Amino acid sequence: MDSTPSAPRRWDPIVKLTHWGVVAAVIGNAIFTEEGSGWHIWVGYGLAALLALRLLWGLIGPDEARFSAFPPSPARALNHIGEIGRGEVTQHRSHNPLGALMVYAIWATLLVVCGTGIAMSGPPPADPSAVRGEHGEGGEKREKGESDERGAARESEADEAREQARRAEAGENEEAEEREEAGARRPAGLAATTDRAEAREQAGQAAVNARAVPSGAADAMLATTERGERAEARESGEGEDGEEEEEGGLGEVHEIAVNLLYVLIALHLAGVVFETRRSGPQIVRAMVPGGTPRG
Ligand code: HEM
Ligand code: HEM
Repeated sequence: MDSTPSAPRRWDPIVKLTHWGVVAAVIGNAIFTEEGSGWHIWVGYGLAALLALRLLWGLIGPDEARFSAFPPSPARALNHIGEIGRGEVTQHRSHNPLGALMVYAIWATLLVVCGTGIAMSGPPPADPSAVRGEHGEGGEKREKGESDERGAARESEADEAREQARRAEAGENEEAEEREEAGARRPAGLAATTDRAEAREQAGQAAVNARAVPSGAADAMLATTERGERAEARESGEGEDGEEEEEGGLGEVHEIAVNLLYVLIALHLAGVVFETRRSGPQIVRAMVPGGTPRG
């Protein structure tokens, strides 16, 4: 790991572009797009392209951007922790040894997120707004290799659910209707896991009720949990072929990797704040556009 105490840190435009592009894509898919929707997939492909560019840059870019400038080395990371303990500050031309471990961890996690996402979605849809997310309204949920017939069946299933929701609104189950609306608006956010688990539980229960008592009450419950039930079917591969089962497993891995990514990002931000307080704002300045003008 090179350390040149006098040279100010600089990142070239490609490193800055890929960093802030990845930040924008992660925030976009975590907060603004519906999970699995056309926009989610397009933003995901954008993220994958930026990541690919940065990894290529690690091989052919300027010295400080190359992997060889910040090899993953636990021994050096421990040494760096020792320096922190002794209050020593060394300027590094590239990432410091502890930061380097974090960078590789984030990249590896992003690769898993992109790999599972692309494996589930296939090529990006021609019209992103026509493919709705798991919780979105409008458009048509696309499954990999789904035939028009199956798509039409899903549409009528959705119509039926909406009809049932209207009945629920007419007074049978107000609380259930509220849940339906909340679910429809929710993007692929941090609380995805808990809500989905809840939806799955309700879906299972609704299915049991529907089989035992095909009454209006069961209809209303089905309406509220129709999406959750579909997610459940996808995850367990119920009644479908092995492809659906595979997609369910990929979905689980995607979700776990996304949650791990959030943890790493929190640690990354804590590290940036810590290092800034310890050794000054130059590490942040080096990453922002125009932060370190040449000459
Ligand atoms: C860091 C950015 C990303 C975040 C925060 C994110 C978040 C999520 C979350 C929370 C889900 C729901 C999990 C599940 O249904 O099992 C999801 C689903 C999905 N994501 Fe992502 N994702 C990201 C990147 C990507 C990428 C790169 C792609 C593909 C290019 C992608 C494609 C999908 C697909 C197709 C689904 C639907 C899975 C299903 O129907 O079960 N995502 N995403
Ligand atoms: C989605 C959120 C974020 C992700 C996934 C992320 C990821 C990364 C990655 C992969 C690197 C290595 C850059 C490279 O060599 O190409 C990096 C470096 C850096 N990031 Fe972030 N970052 C995020 C948010 C932020 C934010 C909000 C800041 C604001 C201060 C920030 C500040 C930095 C700095 C200063 C570095 C350089 C660290 C060093 O000098 O070693 N990051 N980040």
